[in-house]
Amino acid sequence: MCGIAAAALRSKFRMEMIPLLLEFLKALEYRGYDSAGIGVYDEVNRRIIIWKKKGKVESLAKILRNVRVRAPIGIAHTRWATHGIPSDINAHPHTDCKNEVAVVHNGIISNFRELKEKLEESGHKFVSDTDTEVIAHLFEEYLKSMPPFEAFEKTIRSLKGYYAIVMITSKDPTKIFFARKESPLVIGRGSKGYFLSSDMVSLLGSAEEVAVIEDGEYGWITEDDYFVTGKNRRELSFFKPSWTPQQAMKGQYEHFMLKEIYEGPTAIKETLVGILSDDNIFKAAEMMDEHVVAVAAGTSYHASLIFSYLYMKHTGKYIITLDASEAPHYKNLLRGTVIAVSQSGETYDTLKAVRLAKKNGAKIIGVVNVLGSTLDRESDISLRLRAGPEIGVAATKTFLAQLTILYALTYAKVGMDLEETLRPLPEVVKESLEMSAGYAKALANKLYQKRDMYVLGTGISNFVAMEIALKIKEISYIHAEAYPAGEAKHGPISLAEKGFPVLIAWTPEDEDKLEVADEEFSSRGSEVYWIAPEKDIPIPKVSWEIVPFAVTPPGQLLSYYLAIKRGLDPDKPRNLAKSVTVH
Ligand code: G6P
Repeated sequence: MCGIAAAALRSKFRMEMIPLLLEFLKALEYRGYDSAGIGVYDEVNRRIIIWKKKGKVESLAKILRNVRVRAPIGIAHTRWATHGIPSDINAHPHTDCKNEVAVVHNGIISNFRELKEKLEESGHKFVSDTDTEVIAHLFEEYLKSMPPFEAFEKTIRSLKGYYAIVMITSKDPTKIFFARKESPLVIGRGSKGYFLSSDMVSLLGSAEEVAVIEDGEYGWITEDDYFVTGKNRRELSFFKPSWTPQQAMKGQYEHFMLKEIYEGPTAIKETLVGILSDDNIFKAAEMMDEHVVAVAAGTSYHASLIFSYLYMKHTGKYIITLDASEAPHYKNLLRGTVIAVSQSGETYDTLKAVRLAKKNGAKIIGVVNVLGSTLDRESDISLRLRAGPEIGVAATKTFLAQLTILYALTYAKVGMDLEETLRPLPEVVKESLEMSAGYAKALANKLYQKRDMYVLGTGISNFVAMEIALKIKEISYIHAEAYPAGEAKHGPISLAEKGFPVLIAWTPEDEDKLEVADEEFSSRGSEVYWIAPEKDIPIPKVSWEIVPFAVTPPGQLLSYYLAIKRGLDPDKPRNLAKSVTVH
């Protein structure tokens, strides 16, 4: 996955290069935090300097604390390891034999072994195990016989796989070269100069305007200009980002995750305003006629499963939700209309399914939070969440905003009044958070040393149970598994013993089933806790349809407090990244 960024700065801002790149990296850290690195052109000593360090951006910032360099161009990287273990050596930027180049990359170069072999035969010395290093040496090789930008073009043409690349060279210290194939890349401009980044959120404090680099495009930026080419040379269409820098800050909260849980009601409200401001939702509902499937990953997958259930209840028809990573096995189903749900709009598996579907002639409805993301642009209709930036790796507020769109789609399909049906939702979430917070924290204090647990549900709460179990796993590393309450007796119950925790995600649909499961587990010594009206974690009493909005937020809080009690950083769970742009 990785996050990349770059800056080309006007003369009076060049001493700010390092702090600025670190600021970009902090905002991109959600994309991976195995290592971080920076490479700049030091214009006083006329050379490329690289600093890189295993671990989070903080470790890199420590070694840079007293470094002062005046730099017109610089690049930065935060890594989620694919090729080569996390280490200082494998950290980006990578360089060539003469240290005249620094390159960072997000993606995978699939032919790097062949290229590396050839380059080694011609005398290039490699120091890392990464696929990225090959880009620097290849460029160095071409640079022997042509000017820098041509060498860059030729390098790009030799690469297979997918990537967003930014590169600097001491042979042309005014430019930053870039290229994009599938992995995201945006360009920004502001009073200090021009910038590049994997995600516009990182540029909110510096760029007044941003533009998206399209697939297959490459070019360069300088402190006051840019050039983009690909199939066509083109002028970029810059736009003002609708998110503010403040939205991407923690404010009074200790962690982004907690802030974002509490932003749930606003995310729903804003998304609703968006839904009601045009007729896209109705156009999308009209597109859902003959054959419709949905694809999504992670939390978005759970939102989509709830949608399938709700849609079935209202229309009698079932829309299959495919786990995006498995979708290629079902490619015959990827036709008609495909609804792709993705917060980032950049998840590799989801985009792959979308592209397969397009080949089958399908129409795409995207449900996406990040404006200008690949899914946003590749969809026939993009239904946009207005949840604001989500920085915590675990999706929280965007899950609720996704549900708001998917509920609206269902209600639009059956002709229900959207405003009337959806308007109460923010209040439900708010009330649920208020009622449950203290209890969720208290339960976390009780359960934080457990190793395993079940989360049981039935009907709509099955999918809520899946989402809560995912949150608990990813943030607290407690093994939490979701089961339908009635299914638990067919195997899972063999783990029931004194002290084994079971969490029940309530719904009024078939409470008996939940009661029976409680009995079965309690009678074997298990500790059973409910997220339910007037129970262990109390919530408002709602109708079955509203259950995801009432039960999920306390589950999010529980996972958050479990992580805190276990001394973990809930914003950056190990081994995960917010946006998974690899397969
Ligand atoms: C990663 C994140 C999850 C997210 C999933 C899908 O695994 O850690 O939080 O739900 O990707 O991401 P998307 O951006 O497609 O919703």
